[in-house]
Amino acid sequence: MKLGVLTGGGDCPGLNAVIRAVVRRAVRERGDEVVGFLGGWSGAVEDRFVPLDVEATRGILPRGGTILGTSRTTAELLDGGLEQVLDTAQRRGIDCLVVIGGDGTLGAAHQYAELGGTVIGIPKTIDNDVAGTEHTFGFNTAVQIATDLIDRLHTTAESHDRVMVVEVMGRHVGHVAVHAGLAGGAAATLIPEEPFDIGEVCERLVRRHERGRWASIVVVAEGARPAPGTLEIPEPELDVWGRPRVGGIGALVADEIADRTGFETRVTVLGHVQRGGTPTAYDRVLCSRFGVAAVDAAHDGHSDHMVALRSDRIEVVPLAEVVGQEKGVTPDLWDAARSFFA
Ligand code: F6P
Repeated sequence: MKLGVLTGGGDCPGLNAVIRAVVRRAVRERGDEVVGFLGGWSGAVEDRFVPLDVEATRGILPRGGTILGTSRTTAELLDGGLEQVLDTAQRRGIDCLVVIGGDGTLGAAHQYAELGGTVIGIPKTIDNDVAGTEHTFGFNTAVQIATDLIDRLHTTAESHDRVMVVEVMGRHVGHVAVHAGLAGGAAATLIPEEPFDIGEVCERLVRRHERGRWASIVVVAEGARPAPGTLEIPEPELDVWGRPRVGGIGALVADEIADRTGFETRVTVLGHVQRGGTPTAYDRVLCSRFGVAAVDAAHDGHSDHMVALRSDRIEVVPLAEVVGQEKGVTPDLWDAARSFFA
């Protein structure tokens, strides 16, 4: 079999571990040939690729980023570009594409299959918002990075009796915020799924202060928004992909807390640090399992499917059941997180 691999969307720790796993399983155990398309879907459109073998992927297991490069899914790809990908696949004799990405990339994979292409998806994103799988890879690493940094903010917050607002990634969902908030002992966590009332947050912080505690960590997902009528914030501008530019809510929340409570407040935006560097052991294992399972799924004749983690098993689920679904924080988890708020 000949496989073509591509990594799409925002990068994330573990992409290289997946590429390595695909190559190992395919080349060593299945006798396959593998090529890697460069720069996400655009490499497949433009027929830019490199051969991948065990030698080419040696030593990349712990390396952050992606050796193939990545790009976001564009409107041009969905409007004519995928036909060009089909053409590339045919010309290069590629039997199956292994597409590693989040919802946008997997959505394009589903469309590619509908056009007649053969494709297996692997769910990636630090946001953990892909439906059909308990975890995407990269999420565990992002939570660990955010938790480590919150631990550091705790000590400086305590020294100065300050409120520290920490903005973490999470444009549509608050998985990173809730997990890092729980693990890092946040006094409040604000997430996109639960519009917040800043007055209530401040009252809780004041009560905490009255109980003799002042230093507080407030974790804010970048996509968190106030409940209607509670706080006016500017409409976000659109970025080049037509998505709302979400960063900045942490600074607005910090200003409000300082104004309403009088507590000295600082803001830290964790940003792309959460996507950089080496994956955790958990993610390395998940990536390796996903990569192996994707090759096996291709050999089993699956297409238009994604490998997924379910009850510690790797299963194969139809992309049609997954794309455009967005998996948010569950009420159970939110309830647990809330019981630790100030
Ligand atoms: O990969 C998803 C994500 O991490 C979002 O949480 C965040 O809004 C976005 O990527 C930022 O991506 P970029 O700055 O690379 O466009």
